[in-house]
This record gives sequence, C-alpha cells and structure tokens, in this order.
Amino acid sequence: MPITREEEKVLDEHFLANSYVEGFTASQSDAALFEYFTGTPSQDLPSLQRWFRHIASFDKDRTTFPGSRRNPLEIFINGRKITVMADSTAVEQSAALEQFSTAEAQVDEDIVDPWNVQASSSKGIDYDKLIDRFGSSRIDATLLERFEKVTGRKPHHFLRRGIFFSHRDMHRILNLVEAGKKFFLYTGRGPSSEAMHVGHLIPFIMTKWLQDVFDVPLVVQLTDDEKYLWKDLKLEQCNKLAYENSKDIVAMGFDINKTFIFSDIDFIEGSGEFYRNVLKVQKHVTFNQVKGIFGFDESSNIGKIMFPAIQAAPSFSSSFPFIFKGKKDVPCLIPCAIDQDPYFRMTRDVAPRIGLQKPALLHSTFFPALAGASTKMSASDENSSIFLTDTANQIKKKINKYAFSGGRDTIEEHREKGGDCEVDVSYMYLTFFLEDDEKLEEIRQQYSTGNMLTGELKAELIKILQALVAEHQARRKEVTEDLVKEYMKPRPLNF
Ligand code: TRP
Repeated sequence: MPITREEEKVLDEHFLANSYVEGFTASQSDAALFEYFTGTPSQDLPSLQRWFRHIASFDKDRTTFPGSRRNPLEIFINGRKITVMADSTAVEQSAALEQFSTAEAQVDEDIVDPWNVQASSSKGIDYDKLIDRFGSSRIDATLLERFEKVTGRKPHHFLRRGIFFSHRDMHRILNLVEAGKKFFLYTGRGPSSEAMHVGHLIPFIMTKWLQDVFDVPLVVQLTDDEKYLWKDLKLEQCNKLAYENSKDIVAMGFDINKTFIFSDIDFIEGSGEFYRNVLKVQKHVTFNQVKGIFGFDESSNIGKIMFPAIQAAPSFSSSFPFIFKGKKDVPCLIPCAIDQDPYFRMTRDVAPRIGLQKPALLHSTFFPALAGASTKMSASDENSSIFLTDTANQIKKKINKYAFSGGRDTIEEHREKGGDCEVDVSYMYLTFFLEDDEKLEEIRQQYSTGNMLTGELKAELIKILQALVAEHQARRKEVTEDLVKEYMKPRPLNF
C-alpha cells in the first residue's frame, strides 16, 4: 500500500516542525516509515525529503534505532491518520533501498563534532553528506530568494557563496519577520587563546550583518567554563581569556543597545533564570543521550557531561529576563560553524519537552588553514593562519610562504594549464573576504586560465587581509575596559 501524494503532503508538514515521526530521536517508527518509500520524495516536499535523506544516511544502523516495530504503524498528524502496513511489497521495496544505502555506506565517514573535525578524504569535508547525516537543510536558491524578498537586501556573500551552507528552520524565522515579529540572535566563542585568527571572525561577521539587517538583539556566550573543563588551563586564565576575546568581539561593532556579551563563569554565579533553564535541560537529558551525541564515556569528567545544558540555555529568551522584559517566547536564531550543531540538535530535541521554542540555525563551513583545506589551523602554530594581531609584513610573508597554491610548477606550465581554484587557499580566502562578485569571478577566470600567476593572486589577497586586520586592530585599540563592561552589563536591550 504505497503512501499517497496527499499523505506525503501531510508528512511534509509534519517534518517541517519535527525531526522524527515521534519523539525527539530516530526510532523504529522512522525506520518503518522509511521502508515505505520506493525512492527519495520529490523536491516540492522539502521537509519530507530532508527527513528521508537523514534516515537513509544511517544505513544499517537503522536496525539499532530504539523502540519496537508496530505493524500496522499508525501516525497521527494534525488530526490525520496515516497507516503504514508492512506487507510483501514493503519487503521488496526495502531490498531495493538496501542497494541505495550500501552504495552510500562504502565511503568513510568524516568526523565533525565540537572537538574534532577530520575529513576522510584529502578533498576536505563532504558538506552535502554532512547535511544528510545531521538532518539539516541546504541553504538553497529558494531560501536565498525568500531572504531577499523579505529583507529587501541582497543576501550576504557568505550566504550566496555557500560559506554558510546549511540551516534549520530558517523559513520559520522569515515567516516571523514577514509577520512583523522579532527574534533574537545567539552566538558564542570558546576562549582558549588570546590569539584569534581571521577564521574566528566568520560567525561574528555573519552575526553582525544579521543584526544590522533584521535589527534584533544579540547574546554572545563566552564559554570560559567549557575551556576550563576541556583544556589544561587554570580557571582564572580561561576567565581572563574571555575578557580578552570580548574586546575582539566588541571591535566588530555590534550595536551596544542591542548586544549582551557574557562570560559563563561570571554570569552563571549571579543569574536566576539562566540556571533554571540549565537545570531543566539537565533534567531532560540522560547520560546515554549525551554519550550518543557527544561521545562522552565513563571517564569523562562530570563537568563535560553537564556542559551541553549550559550551551543550550542561551537559546531561550526566558534565560535573560532582564533583556526581554520577561518575554519567554522570543524565538532564537544561532549562526555558528557546523561543528557546534550537536549542541543545538540536543537543544532542539529538549525544547518542546520543557515548553520552550526550538532555536533556528545557520551553519557555516570551516575556514581553511593556510596549508590547505585538509590541514588544521591551530592557535599554537602561528603559521597555520592569519591572526588578528599580525603585522602587515607578517601577513605578506605568511601568505607568500605558506598559503597552499593551486598554481603549476613552472610559469610555462601555469600559462598553459592554469591554476586550480578548488585547492588554492589564497583563492578560497578571497571567497571569504573579497565582497565584489565581479572582481572575484574575474580573478577566478584569469587564474584558472593561466593569465594570472599565483604571485598576483596572492598579492590581491594580501592587500585585502592587510586592510581587514589593520582596520580590526584600529577598532580594537578603541575598545576600553569600560566599554567591554557596558556590553557585559545585564540590562534591557532594544527590540
Ligand atoms: N562551544 C563554542 C566554542 O567552543 C562556543 C559557543 C557557545 C558557541 N555558544 C555558542 C558557538 C553558540 C556558536 C554558537 O567555540
């Protein structure tokens, strides 16, 4: 008994608001419903399609989903009942799907979580696959068009160029905006070193733009507690780093009337409501669940096990009664790098169980290290990236010496074959920092046809980065301790 088109529409509606058939994790009900499809649901049912791809990505692990199979499986959605009955055709269908899944499973998995980012291939992370695995949605042309229609602004080049590539519930946020309602932004930083590099700016550049375009309040969480629990650092040191980093964040120019920055260590001590939400989250997440989501085990210190509740809490406006004048249901949008998604997948699962709203998300790709997209950036290796404290000369030297080049070995060969923009780090950096689309396209053409040499490409990037870093340094110099304190003062924000 195949699922009718009408039933598919009902399911699509269901998966617009829910990750799974029932409850907050994939269960045997998802596995049973999945087997009922003979192929990927059509494109005009995007939420159903997202759910399908997500469930498909588990491949054989579907058999280990919790719960038992009910036959028939009855799903109640908005007063409608959909009955899924396993019969012989279902068995055939599931055999067909098996093929689809094993082909997928042969590729090794990339590892992406808050502490490890490791590509299984030298080409770097497979972001399309990550979207399926995480069950998020691609930022596609439809969303970008809607974005432009609703805001009247051309989407930021991070959005247009796929640097922010994935989202959860962004359509819901745009619906709110269309209806004249407000939301708030939440982002954060784990302060583990004084030296921030240009890659650390990416989520903050996006957040600043979103704050300007939507004219909404922002909370910035500095997780000095997280760094204390994970790194070999003293508590006071982590707390001090939070204040150092907050100067760089303030230097981004966030609206002081709409921005609250806080250190977890300092803020939690004095906060009533924030800790209440932390407690509610803690009560609704088991050790088994954090084990599954974050890979904790019996030897993890217990601070780590409870920490996800602390990163979850700022997603709820009720955590900040002083900001929102007690309004408990202001929806939240979180711009972050995709490695932070496990925290917010958990948050979204818990939210309805504690009577709170799920946050929406915008996910970015990772900023490539100078030595190439498959290598790591590290604050302790000063040649792995461009730091916000670098001088103009250091920037020039580093780019010229360390930026992995897609150019050819000799000039003759380069002129003949052209450079490879796919692996060229200087070109990749230009996609982040050169806003002018036409100029970027011209550089791409000139470089990949061999008219432009690596040295010339690098010179373009050096100019842009020198200006960006110098401007940042100038703004940061103006940031006084008092100004930081202003941003960190619990107070009502305009919205
Ligand atoms: N855990 C993040 C880090 O280590 C910091 C963080 C806290 C964060 N809350 C966030 C990042 C919200 C993005 C969005 O950097």
